[in-house]
Amino acid sequence: MMSIGQLRSRFDPLTGAIAGAPVTRRRLSDLRGCFADSAAYEATLAAGDPLLYSVASVEPAKGEGDLHYGVGLLMPGRVGAEYFMTKGHLHSWRQAAEIYIGLTGEGVLLLEDEASGESRLVPLRPHHAVYVPGHTAHRTMNTGAVPLTYLGVYPAKAGHDYGTIAEKNFHCVVVERDGRPTMVERKTLT
Ligand code: PA5
Ligand code: MN
Repeated sequence: MMSIGQLRSRFDPLTGAIAGAPVTRRRLSDLRGCFADSAAYEATLAAGDPLLYSVASVEPAKGEGDLHYGVGLLMPGRVGAEYFMTKGHLHSWRQAAEIYIGLTGEGVLLLEDEASGESRLVPLRPHHAVYVPGHTAHRTMNTGAVPLTYLGVYPAKAGHDYGTIAEKNFHCVVVERDGRPTMVERKTLT
């Protein structure tokens, strides 16, 4: 049996911190190529290199049936009309699905089916769960005015494939239009 420290963890829904868990931090400069409006990206970066998000991860075990989880903290803000976002990824083990649970703030998940390219925008709010199916690229945007935090739970063997996104990118981006998050084709902004 695992120790009690492996069986439970305490997270702060406001800061996204999990006691004792390693944290990955991504700044605007780490997201080169993610935002469609490259002029707005360079202008925003020239004014500073803000922290966009952090993820605290818990990996209790690495066996076939095990689970990993993480709490993300994504800051509010925009690059031009595009909301601050995560890098986005597919799972290296493509079949792996994931559950996102909103903790604080308001956001959306952009989902893109790898085979068909079909895209969907799914609201991510406190006490809402979003199911991300396997074979689906996923990226999170903060569409509100305060930090967005969420819990993500996924198979231990899922793995994060960032390379495919770096190469092909998502077909769509999420912009503020008339005060609302709106999904538009990337090519309309480039
Ligand atoms: O595993 C997940 O899908 C999340 O915990 C993400 O890692 C988190 O949202 C950060 O996004 P990304 O891994 O695309 O940088
Ligand atoms: Mn994932």
